[in-house]
Amino acid sequence: AQREDFVAGLPKAELHLHIEGSLEPELMFALAQRNAIDIPFASVEEVRAAYAFSNLQDFLDIYYQGMSVLRTEQDFHDLTMAYFQRVHRDQVRHAEIFFDPQGHTERGVSFDTAISGTLRAMDDAKSDLGISSHLIMCFLRHLSEEDAFATLEQAEPWLDRILGVGLDSSELGHPPSKFVNVFARARDKGLKCVAHAGEEGPPAYVREALDSLKIDRLDHGNRSLEDGELVKRLAEEGMTLTVCPLSNLALCVVDDLRQHPLKKMLDAGLRATINSDDPSYFGGYMNDNFLRTAEALDLTADEIVTLAKNGFSGSFEDAEFQTRAL
Ligand code: ADE
Ligand code: ZN
Repeated sequence: AQREDFVAGLPKAELHLHIEGSLEPELMFALAQRNAIDIPFASVEEVRAAYAFSNLQDFLDIYYQGMSVLRTEQDFHDLTMAYFQRVHRDQVRHAEIFFDPQGHTERGVSFDTAISGTLRAMDDAKSDLGISSHLIMCFLRHLSEEDAFATLEQAEPWLDRILGVGLDSSELGHPPSKFVNVFARARDKGLKCVAHAGEEGPPAYVREALDSLKIDRLDHGNRSLEDGELVKRLAEEGMTLTVCPLSNLALCVVDDLRQHPLKKMLDAGLRATINSDDPSYFGGYMNDNFLRTAEALDLTADEIVTLAKNGFSGSFEDAEFQTRAL
């Protein structure tokens, strides 16, 4: 209980959160009703029962289906505001949020509808809850680089409100190098670059993310540990890893939290952070991720503080913010 209070009270920054993955079943039902959309579930319990995954693709199939209830600017606002209200209780002070525009434009919801509702909630979270945030637009890697270029074009009027680009969705078979040109274009426009790599994919994908995409931050990165030279490089470069323990457990990246590599990462000198990824689907927000990982790995108070601090120092905020926060 002492550890619980300590973890709960720490200020936190979340750096790996897909806003569409924070859609709780209750809100899914409410939005389905509001928009007169059929969903293949009879109850909230039935939705939760469907959240049993063997791998990333299992989850993605349900995740893309879940977002079909999001249609209007207000829907995106309500989704995003619900996330902020929830993590306010977890002492989250800053969030760098992913969204998947292609998950919406593919089903006829415009880029502008999705981003404007999300941004309005981000503004409200700042004024009403004191939580600062940024938006990172992800390209779906199972789609083509040409599609990613079209998405970057749609983002053009919004670039002053978009911090960076990311890369998510099905990793295996879609290496980072597939997107080398669109990331170069994004970087020319002054956008930060991040990518999911080493979640299911091999260490070579992490190397590609570094060398081809020139990432500023690495999302997941678990499988980097299979490659000692790579670990050394990540440590030397001071690369921040946005690690998501309950996600890794839910998607069978690890069989048991006690086998989670987070402690090994810290021991190897990597700047690891704790994040929730898709909290509605993976069974926990920030405090749950911190607490369950701390218990499973028997983390010390110092290690827990380091993880929380790494969230701030790994953010894209300026140096003054990074050190003031904790
Ligand atoms: N999209 C949402 N969550 C994801 C994850 N953990 N990996 C890849 N794509 C995702
Ligand atoms: Zn993710």
